[in-house]
Amino acid sequence: MKIAIINGPNLNLLGTREVDVYGDQTFDKYLETLKQQFPGVELSYFQSNVEGELVNEIQRAGSMSSAFDGIVLNPAAYTHTSIAIGDAIAAIKTPVIEVHISNIFGREEFRKISHVSAKSVGVISGLGLKGYALAISYLSTK
Ligand code: DQA
Repeated sequence: MKIAIINGPNLNLLGTREVDVYGDQTFDKYLETLKQQFPGVELSYFQSNVEGELVNEIQRAGSMSSAFDGIVLNPAAYTHTSIAIGDAIAAIKTPVIEVHISNIFGREEFRKISHVSAKSVGVISGLGLKGYALAISYLSTK
């Protein structure tokens, strides 16, 4: 079982960025927790601040040769702007779960728009970093 975690812009700053919204844990630290929590799952991790690099990684993880069973994707701010990321998800067969640490529906109006949700299997939003574990749990037991 292989699952790809893909994080978008500014998520490399987790731990110091708006800690009241996103918490004080770095993603590298949380990734260790995830690996312990899912010993039977091979987890890969990719983060980029660049839209095209995220599209490339979605295509790579979604290709037959990569053989990923699922993708956990937090496109961060690109969620609200990127038709290209939505199209990349639509172009692959690998199931994608959209995850947001914060509740995007309880924040500014512009965050309520997602170009990703309709193309994803489901959305987890507002449950903190635990959302990644819930998405992996779903993908690894379905
Ligand atoms: C986010 C929510 C987005 O609106 C924001 O731009 C982010 C992080 C989240 O995980 O809550 O960077 O995707």
